Amino acid sequence: MPIYGTRPEAIKMAPIIKALVASNDFNATVTVTGQHREMLDQVNELFGIAPDHDLNIIQPRQTLNGVLTRTVRGLDELLEQSTPDAVIVQGDTTAALGGAVAAFYRGIPVVHVEAGLRSFNLFSPFPEEANRKMISQVTSLHLAPTAGSKANLMREAVPEADIAVTGNTVIDALLDVADREVAFTDPKLEEVASSGSQLLLVTTHRRENQGSAMEGVGRALARLADRYPDTLIVLPAHRNPVVREAILPALEGHTNVVVTEPLPYGEFTRLMNLAHVVLTDSGGVQEEAPSLGKPVLVMRENTERPEAVDAGTVRLIGTDEERVVSEVSHLFDDTSAYERMSTAVNPYGDGHAASRTIAALRQLFGTGSRLPDFTASGA
Ligand code: UD1
Ligand code: UDP
Repeated sequence: MPIYGTRPEAIKMAPIIKALVASNDFNATVTVTGQHREMLDQVNELFGIAPDHDLNIIQPRQTLNGVLTRTVRGLDELLEQSTPDAVIVQGDTTAALGGAVAAFYRGIPVVHVEAGLRSFNLFSPFPEEANRKMISQVTSLHLAPTAGSKANLMREAVPEADIAVTGNTVIDALLDVADREVAFTDPKLEEVASSGSQLLLVTTHRRENQGSAMEGVGRALARLADRYPDTLIVLPAHRNPVVREAILPALEGHTNVVVTEPLPYGEFTRLMNLAHVVLTDSGGVQEEAPSLGKPVLVMRENTERPEAVDAGTVRLIGTDEERVVSEVSHLFDDTSAYERMSTAVNPYGDGHAASRTIAALRQLFGTGSRLPDFTASGA
């Protein structure tokens, strides 16, 4: 039973669901918590996934404890009736934590996709670092995306036999949509695409950045819009009203700033391809944009995804207004600095993470054996 609740989980779970459905030895009961609504539904729709169960727990301005308790309560009722052989959770959201706890308490094995990421700061990202550590404690099969995430788990005394290195399923998803011909539903974006202008693509939503840090990012974007009037700044705004209230006021009246609703994944991927630079605090975007050869400036103090930082295509810049302005300006103004950061690298996956996941599930159930671990070199 795959269980998920938010946009990034849906994107990263989709290749696994597709592979489970295509197999003739698994029966997938897709369960969504509905922690997100529109942002979740648009992903399921894109990948043709019709969930079997939907707890629909979302509330406006929901609290972490509210999300967790509604998730566990809803799943407990479901798991009482339907008894899957295993549940699959993905990543570090409260949906994933709720899914893991509810299954563990019912004696159902937990399979954790994207296991072993660590920022080594319990409060950043908050609450994700804590969520993924708690999930690891109740997991039977840990599917680490990289050798580094496997090493993190082994340092925490997880038995090596319980860890498979699969690559990140986000790369499977990205490759799935990359070849599709996608038209933008928002006419403003078709104008952006045909303008030929330099494009700065921005996303932000992290809980620990909400409030004054995010207001500073809004002011930084406004200053960049003034400094580079020929550049278009595109911000697909997260649905969270707290995010919108922090970032949007400073951008009003700036005609070269284009704010849109959250984009369907295929459209967002097209926009990443068009972008000159990506400025984000997202986890998934840090994994995708490097594989498209786009420099990524990450508005966080630390990251649990060090591989692309090590490869030189991602830089951590924090959220300080001056620093955001100067780091973006540096990439716009200094061609050689830009070129150094714009090499395409693929440390997170090769598009076969779902196949390795299915093989690892077969080994868990004693019906098959694993595939060789993913290695970034492809060796
Ligand atoms: C959640 C995850 C975060 C993940 C992010 C992906 C937790 C604690 N946080 O954060 O790890 O990076 O999703 O985007 O699990 N809303 C809507 N419609 C939607 C989605 C959100 O209206 O489709 C609004 C609601 O008012 C909701 C609020 O956004 O209360 C916050 O959503 P929530 O899932 O609690 O937090 P995110 O910041 O989205
Ligand atoms: N994304 C999308 N539409 C958007 C913005 C992002 O489909 O308008 C995708 C993006 O490509 C990535 C994922 O959503 O795969 C990241 O989600 P988010 O930043 O909300 O969460 P995180 O990865 O930080 O947990």
